[in-house]
Amino acid sequence: MLKNRLYLDALEGKEVQRPPVWMMRQAGRFLPEFRALRDQYDFFTRCQTPELAAEITLMPVKRFPIDAAILFSDILVVPQAMGMNFQMKESVGPYLEDPITCLEDIESLVNPPIQDSLGYVLDAIDITLEQLNNEIPLIGFAGSPWTILCYAIEGKGSKTFDKAKSFCFQKPEWAHKLLQKITDYTILYLEKKIEHGVHAVQIFDSWGGLLSPKDYNEFSWKYINQIVDALEQKSKVIVFGKGCWFALETMSQSKACALGVDWTISPQKAREFSGGEITLQGNFDPAKLLSSPVKIYNEAQQMVRDFGTKSYIANLGHGILPNVPVENAEAFIKAIVEFQK
Ligand code: CP3
Repeated sequence: MLKNRLYLDALEGKEVQRPPVWMMRQAGRFLPEFRALRDQYDFFTRCQTPELAAEITLMPVKRFPIDAAILFSDILVVPQAMGMNFQMKESVGPYLEDPITCLEDIESLVNPPIQDSLGYVLDAIDITLEQLNNEIPLIGFAGSPWTILCYAIEGKGSKTFDKAKSFCFQKPEWAHKLLQKITDYTILYLEKKIEHGVHAVQIFDSWGGLLSPKDYNEFSWKYINQIVDALEQKSKVIVFGKGCWFALETMSQSKACALGVDWTISPQKAREFSGGEITLQGNFDPAKLLSSPVKIYNEAQQMVRDFGTKSYIANLGHGILPNVPVENAEAFIKAIVEFQK
């Protein structure tokens, strides 16, 4: 039995004394102990070595009184397993030498049994759960098919992903074929993660907000919703769509049990658009963690007042930035842990 159920209680919409708190990308670059490891192993080696992935997952857990851990990995391990040879390049980020350009590229993608291609993630879950010793829940995750397509077509990060978008607009039938392949494999992957004991799964749609509402429904939501439908009986599914406030109403009518929101929408509007019932997660501006600890503390507590303590998970509106001082992240977490109704 889990000792700290706050996060699960919030996902279930139960009354809580205070909201649970964790931070997107908490197992990463802003921690000095993570950066120390970075000098010894390259990024995907860290993902592929279960003992290292478990160690990194636990780094923020050891430092802060957070209410959930998120498995250290990356959304790009899924397209890697399908045959796309992503690398992580210093000061470039994800990089794919041969991005997808034609139908043959899509048809040549593979879907080996998850145990064979991504067994290292499952092993990392086993080790992490053992080390967590039932203290707090463990979150598993995957990228949304649309966000994975962005990297698969563009071959690297981008502010606008024009190449990926024009591919979808010029060759919609190819795009749908690719999106469906990613969706099917992602479902198998998340099913295995759930079998191995993660307590919830979050889908990161980091680039959904680059699409118009109509295109979002066609190229992103349609596939996220398939994943939600496939998994909702087996686990709790959280959908985070960066910049996707326009889709909150649609998302809230799905079987997802919580929705992530970024800082470009007020808590009040987010509640209004999502119908007022579903659990919301977010939405502190990650750049605000670069202000003073006192300001962070006060604004984080105001955020809880604005969302309300029920059906709410305190978090950032996107991943923590690499240059955030540890004491500022600490002030954010402290503000939530000390929150009194
Ligand atoms: O809390 C955690 O850190 C959990 C693990 C996690 C990572 N990536 C580790 C990582 C998670 C949940 C992700 C998700 C992810 N990866 C997303 C979706 C969330 C988001 O932030 O939008 C995306 C788009 C990616 C793809 C990716 N991975 C990019 C664009 C980059 C480079 C830019 C960056 O943010 O550093 C990565 C690298 C990456 N993934 C790092 C970490 C800790 C940094 C690697 C390093 O600096 O050594």
